[in-house]
Amino acid sequence: MDYIITTEQLTKKYKSFVAVNNVSLNIRKGSIYGFLGPNGAGKSTTMKMLLGLTAPTKGSFTIDGKQFPNDRLSILKEVGSFIESPSFYANLTGKENLDIIRRILGLPVSSVVDALELVGLSEFGGRLAKNTHWV
Ligand SMILES: Nc1ncnc2c1ncn2[C@@H]1O[C@H](COP(=O)(O)OP(=O)(O)O)[C@@H](O)[C@H]1O
Ligand SMILES: [Mg+2]
Repeated sequence: MDYIITTEQLTKKYKSFVAVNNVSLNIRKGSIYGFLGPNGAGKSTTMKMLLGLTAPTKGSFTIDGKQFPNDRLSILKEVGSFIESPSFYANLTGKENLDIIRRILGLPVSSVVDALELVGLSEFGGRLAKNTHWV
C-alpha cells in the first residue's frame, strides 16, 4: 500500500503533560483524511510535529516515503500548510512579515532568504501580504 503519511507511536510531552500519545497513522496517497477530535485532543500538535515545527518526544514519521528528521528539508520543500489561520500584516511584504518572526525567534538575517528559497517563493518575497492570491 502506498502511503503519503505514516506515523509510528508519535508522542509529544510538554514537561509531564502528554499532548499526543503514541499516534500511529497510515494515510493513503490521494485520500482526504479527516483528523477529528475534541478541543485539546492533540490535532494541532500532531500537525506541528509533521511540519518540523515542534520536536516529537518519541516516535517517528514519514511523508511521501521521506523519513523525519533525516529528510526534513526535502519534506518541507514538498509540503504546504496552514495551521490555525496564521496571521500576517497585510501592509507588509512577505519578506517583512518573515523578518518579524525571525527577530522574535532570534534567527540570523539570512534565514528569511533561506526560508523563501526553501519553499520556492523567492520571487514573491517583495509582494504585499494583502496582494497574495491564495490558490
Ligand atoms: N506549547 C504548549 N505547551 C504546553 N501545552 C501545550 C502546548 N501546546 C499545546 N498544549 C496542550 O496540548 C494539548 C493538545 O493541544 P492541541 O494540539 O492544540 O489540541 P487540538 O489542536 O486537538 O485542539 C492541549 O491540552 C494543550 O493545552
Ligand atoms: Mg488545534
